Amino acid sequence: MNIDLAVLGRQFELYQAEYEAAALRVLRSGWYVLGPEVAAFEQSFAQYVGRKYCVGLNSGLDALTLAVRALGIGAGDEVIVPANTYIATVLAITANGATPVFVEPDAYFTLDAERIEAAVTPQTKAIMVVHLYGQAAEMDAVCRIAEAHGLHLLEDCAQSHGARFAGTMTGAFGDAGCFSFYPTKNLGAFGDAGAVVTDDEALAKTLRMLRNYGSEKKYHNKLVGVNSRLDELQAALLRVKLAHLGEVIAERERIASAYLAGIKNPRIRLPEVRGNANHVWHQFVVQTEDRDAFQSYLASHGIKTVIHYPIPPHLAECYASLGHHEGDYPITEHMAKTVLSLPMFNGMREDEVQYVVETVNAYGRDV
Ligand SMILES: Cc1ncc(COP(=O)(O)O)c(C=O)c1O
Repeated sequence: MNIDLAVLGRQFELYQAEYEAAALRVLRSGWYVLGPEVAAFEQSFAQYVGRKYCVGLNSGLDALTLAVRALGIGAGDEVIVPANTYIATVLAITANGATPVFVEPDAYFTLDAERIEAAVTPQTKAIMVVHLYGQAAEMDAVCRIAEAHGLHLLEDCAQSHGARFAGTMTGAFGDAGCFSFYPTKNLGAFGDAGAVVTDDEALAKTLRMLRNYGSEKKYHNKLVGVNSRLDELQAALLRVKLAHLGEVIAERERIASAYLAGIKNPRIRLPEVRGNANHVWHQFVVQTEDRDAFQSYLASHGIKTVIHYPIPPHLAECYASLGHHEGDYPITEHMAKTVLSLPMFNGMREDEVQYVVETVNAYGRDV
């Protein structure tokens, strides 16, 4: 049997008629960028997360970068960020001239709250928390620390649509919740898209200007902005998907439960779920000391897997100038050597899930 990590077409097929109707509606409307579909999506998504405002943008990276900029964070400022994140989180900080200060993760792959305070300096302006793989960070502690030190709190929710901590949605804790709607995400568009949610009216206004060349009124440019406008087609398709997000998450939970109950192999460490949070399983990430051999074994049995992520940002070639070295963040570096994401996608069949379980369980017996 051949199983890909994610087969996006299956979810399209599930709601095909609705997607096609939405796309045709936009194509026939004659209005394609920042229009009624974007406004309607922004309203629904803000409501879904439990915030007052949502600003639709081009991508998750733009959401993070423009949120950092709108908060006035720049050269000379430091931003605390988990060391084990996707490079985009860090790019958003350095794109504004600020310095990322890396902090090791806890056992749930999210910022270790106990290590944050040691990283705070007089230059620290914000904590950028990442709800990696679909599970919220320890938000009680993170919020307490941000408040105690007068720091901005930004949330990278690119992987956590619908994930909650103690009942509150990720994206509803900080000054700004930054989302990606890249097609593979749980709330994925059919191209690039992103958004920032916030309760801060002034911040939302600034973001609306920044996304449109820095102008509120055409040709009156108040800020040095960018073009990061969400288009009508993506917004209309996202409206369809948002209406089904509960089902999308429930299906991923079923697949994750089957993995958690079925995988029994002492060589494979299963992901842990926080007691006071729900996991939306953007990725199902296992760990094993002989990860590369395990990945090759799965590939030889037709199962495609991906490493999220093989090189931590502090060791990325582009950040050599930050002066970090191997050994600086051993927990993160160990994760990079041991993590592997198993197939997880909407429309994954029961027999495919069982095949993954059986193949993982047989690992070590037939190698
Ligand atoms: C944790 C994280 N942050 C940021 C991003 C950037 O989102 P986008 O690809 O929409 O720019 C991604 C997704 O790729 C991500 O996984």
